[in-house]
Amino acid sequence: MSLKGKYALITGSSRGIGRGIALKLAESGAGVAVHYFRNEAAAKQTLKMVQDRGSRGLIVQADTTKPDEISRMVKKVHADFGALDIFVSNARPELAAFFQPPMNITLEQWDAAFDSQAKGFLVGAREAAAVMRDSGRIFAITYAQGSRTGGLQPWVGMGCAKAAMESLVRYLAVALARRGITVNAISPSWTEDSVLNTLPAEAQELIRQWHSGGFTPMRRLATPADVGNVVELFCSEQANFITGQIIYADGGASLMNPEVPPEIQLR
Ligand SMILES: NC(=O)c1ccc[n+]([C@@H]2O[C@H](COP(=O)([O-])OP(=O)(O)OC[C@H]3O[C@@H](n4cnc5c(N)ncnc54)[C@H](OP(=O)(O)O)[C@@H]3O)[C@@H](O)[C@H]2O)c1
Repeated sequence: MSLKGKYALITGSSRGIGRGIALKLAESGAGVAVHYFRNEAAAKQTLKMVQDRGSRGLIVQADTTKPDEISRMVKKVHADFGALDIFVSNARPELAAFFQPPMNITLEQWDAAFDSQAKGFLVGAREAAAVMRDSGRIFAITYAQGSRTGGLQPWVGMGCAKAAMESLVRYLAVALARRGITVNAISPSWTEDSVLNTLPAEAQELIRQWHSGGFTPMRRLATPADVGNVVELFCSEQANFITGQIIYADGGASLMNPEVPPEIQLR
C-alpha cells in the first residue's frame, strides 16, 4: 500500500509503540513527524530509521499535557510539511506521573492522566482536523481492557482517562464524518519494546508467561510493528467507511472469558 504524498504526526513516536507506527507509515511512503518529550536522542534515532526507509521526516518536541504546546506542535508540523493527513495520539506520561491506586492517587497525578489523554486528544484532534486535508485519519491509541476493568488498581487514572478518550473518538467521528475524516481507537494488548520493558523483570516474565501460556490465543505479546500495521491498514482508502470504532490488536486476548481459567477455555 502506498501513502506517498501523505503526511503524518504521531505523538510519542520517539520510541515504543509510536515508533512502530512511525516506521510502518514511513515504509508506506508517508512523511513522518517524530514527536518526543524529553528523550531527544531516541527521537533522532527514530528519525534516522524513518529516513533510512526513504521517507521524509522531521522531529518535533512538546509536552502533550499542555494544550498550548499541542497547538504549537501541530501548527509547526503542518507548516514544515505543508500538509497533514494523519494524526495519531499515542504519547502517554511515564508511570510515575499517574500510577497510583484510587485511594492514593493525587489530583496532580489524576490530571496528568486526563490532560494527556482526554484533554490532550481533544486539543490534538481539533488542531489536526483544522489543518488536515479531507479524507484524513485520526487515531487514539488506547488500552481498552484498562478502561472497562478495575483489577489493576494503580491504573485508575489512566483507565478513566482512556475511557474518556474512547468516548471522544465516537463524538469526533460524527463531527468529522462529512469531511471524510475517520476517527478510530486502536487497543493493543501488552506490547514488547514499550513501557513493558521498564517494569521489574519478575513482572515482565509473569505477563509474558500468562499470554504465551494461553490467555492470548495467538500465544504471544503484541509488537510495535503489529500496531503500526493496523494504523497503516486504516490509512488505506479501503478503510474510508470505518469510523468511531475501537479496534483490538491483541491476538484474541479480549475474547477470553476472565472468569474461566485459560486451561479450560483452550481445551
Ligand atoms: N505498552 C503497552 O503494552 C501498551 C498496551 C496498550 C496500549 N498502550 C498505549 O500505547 C501508547 C504508547 O505506549 P508505550 O508503552 O509504547 O509508551 P513508551 O514506550 O513509554 O513511550 C512513551 C512516549 O510518550 C512520550 N511522552 C512521555 N511523556 C510525555 C509528555 N508529557 N508529553 C509528550 N510526550 C510524552 C515519550 O517521549 P520521551 O521519551 O521523549 O519522554 C515517548 O515517546 C500509550 O498511549 C499506551 O497507553 C501501550
